[in-house]
Amino acid sequence: MLKTTKEMFTITALTSGSRRSIYSKFEAQFKLNRETEQMGRIIAIANQKGGVGKTTTAINLAASLAALEKNVLIVDGDPQANATSGIGIDTRQIRSTIYDCLIDGKEPREALMGCGIENLTIIPSNIDLVGAEIEMLERPEREKILKVVLKKIADDYDYILIDCSPSLGLLTVNSLTASDSVIIPVQCEYFALEGLGKLLNTIKIIQNNLNPELEIEGFLLTMYDSRLRLSNQVADEVNKHFQQMVFKTIIQRNVKLSEAPSFGQPAILYDADSRGTVNYLNLAKELIEKQEERVKA
Ligand SMILES: Nc1ncnc2c1ncn2[C@@H]1O[C@H](COP(=O)(O)OP(=O)(O)OP(=O)(O)O)[C@@H](O)[C@H]1O
Ligand SMILES: [Mg+2]
Repeated sequence: MLKTTKEMFTITALTSGSRRSIYSKFEAQFKLNRETEQMGRIIAIANQKGGVGKTTTAINLAASLAALEKNVLIVDGDPQANATSGIGIDTRQIRSTIYDCLIDGKEPREALMGCGIENLTIIPSNIDLVGAEIEMLERPEREKILKVVLKKIADDYDYILIDCSPSLGLLTVNSLTASDSVIIPVQCEYFALEGLGKLLNTIKIIQNNLNPELEIEGFLLTMYDSRLRLSNQVADEVNKHFQQMVFKTIIQRNVKLSEAPSFGQPAILYDADSRGTVNYLNLAKELIEKQEERVKA
């Protein structure tokens, strides 16, 4: 567990200078074991409910995994392109997007973009992706187009996180078909559980027909505010329903997480000392440990 401000600022240093020695200290602290880790886990971050923290999770979990020296790719699977702008990509610099890979057969390697953070790469999106849903309809194996694209590069990364759009349309079906697992952010707010049944049903259909290996990585409670009775009620209810499938890490409501994207930065760069930074680092740690358990089993 990270406890002190000093340790938090150590993480800031990770993204600029003398990374190697700091990493090893940090790695020991988090008891990470890269030797046992399986390569290239693809994780969709999905919930058709809007504004629940999918993109915030994609950006900040990816940056945290990268700070823990994992090689990470974000795939922006949303035409809103919030992950692309939130990680600091200048849209004028984008030459190829995920749309070009899905629809025009562009090599995914040609669409990769750095974002100034070591170990972190993104395949960006833009508004063109709106058209992909319809254009893919006519294609053979239309649900597996993204899977074919990502297969070409999956081994280059420890983790690939797909930021899904708030829909259960063909793009999200493609994301779930391409993934090893799915993280489901659940906002600690009114109607939090609304629509989850439909999402779980979609996941079941995909498991039965398209991707039998698809696992639920976990339900992630987001925007939790311990002062609000409602937040606690939602957390209790989600834990009661989904039990061990709920991440132990809870993402608290934190203004730094909502400010950071307008500076094109994950919270770990915007404010390394923030609660949001610590929450997402703990989530990354939990994810890595889960993966290590899986490999050992
Ligand atoms: N833990 C948090 N604390 C404070 N604000 C948050 C937190 N998580 C997300 N937000 C804010 O809530 C809003 C919605 O978050 P986000 O964009 O991540 O949701 P989303 O599920 O990706 O939305 P969409 O469905 O539109 O893609 C954003 O303004 C974001 O900055
Ligand atoms: Mg989003």
